[in-house]
Amino acid sequence: MKELYSYIRNGKDNIEGWFSRVDSQIFYELLCYQNLNHIDGGVAEIGMHHGKSFIALCLGLTGGQKAYGVDIFENQKKNLDRSGSGVRDIVENNLKTYGIDLAKVVIDPRGSDEVKTEDIYQAVGDVRFFSVDGGHWRDIVSNDLSLAASVLAKDGVIALDDFLRPEWPDVSAGFFEWFEKSDESVVPFAIGHNKLYLCHKQSVGRLQKILIDSRFLKHFFNKYYMFCGNNIPIFQSYHLPEWSMRRRIYEYLKIHHPEFYVRFRSLKSRLRN
Ligand SMILES: C[S@@+](CC[C@H](N)C(=O)[O-])C[C@H]1O[C@@H](n2cnc3c(N)ncnc32)[C@H](O)[C@@H]1O
Repeated sequence: MKELYSYIRNGKDNIEGWFSRVDSQIFYELLCYQNLNHIDGGVAEIGMHHGKSFIALCLGLTGGQKAYGVDIFENQKKNLDRSGSGVRDIVENNLKTYGIDLAKVVIDPRGSDEVKTEDIYQAVGDVRFFSVDGGHWRDIVSNDLSLAASVLAKDGVIALDDFLRPEWPDVSAGFFEWFEKSDESVVPFAIGHNKLYLCHKQSVGRLQKILIDSRFLKHFFNKYYMFCGNNIPIFQSYHLPEWSMRRRIYEYLKIHHPEFYVRFRSLKSRLRN
């Protein structure tokens, strides 16, 4: 997983899109765990834009596993809330730049409301990591979560982008609409920088442990909170005007210079001990 690690540390900064350092580390830790434990399955994303997070998923593939990407690309009249704007040529070029064999990638240029469970299943089988980052309105978020849950492999992960983000309130509304009508067998297990992470109920403890044990992520952990039936770790803090200058500087470094922040905190704790 050397290529994936190098991509999340440096490579992703060359690709236009939205994929924070903390969320990319969460992808990395979970994909490594799945590979070490021979969890089989493809990867998938709804909403590729230029491929920033999709490339990370593809770099996590092993053996004959495949990736499924959905984006409406030039058909932007279907993008009701103008959340990004995918370009297929750019996605394919970016994939090639990072050494991903396009024969392993199935690109579906339809709206996600037209994609069926069987389309994904027939192309890549069960999905072990599904990134939901397409339309941001309530019905499509609920639709996309149903689709992702319907193909989720054992110990598989769904990452829902922009959950609880004030600029996109319908993402949260769509999540709760989906969750309340679901059988609640797929549940939240963590909140990252800008994503909610979900998995099968039986996998919660195993997947949480991977994140909690991460030497990088521990510097971004804020607290546990009981949510939808599980105590989940949160790797994010809402910025408050009441914060002290010291806290403001720390939080600024966390977002804008995460590698420096982690090195600085590690050094500080070594000097203390
Ligand atoms: C926020 S961007 C995705 C960002 C991307 N995951 C990244 O890593 O930067 C949202 C994408 O969803 C696509 N999109 C919007 N509505 C969609 C729909 N109904 N079905 C499929 N894709 C959609 C847009 O074209 C856009 O590329």
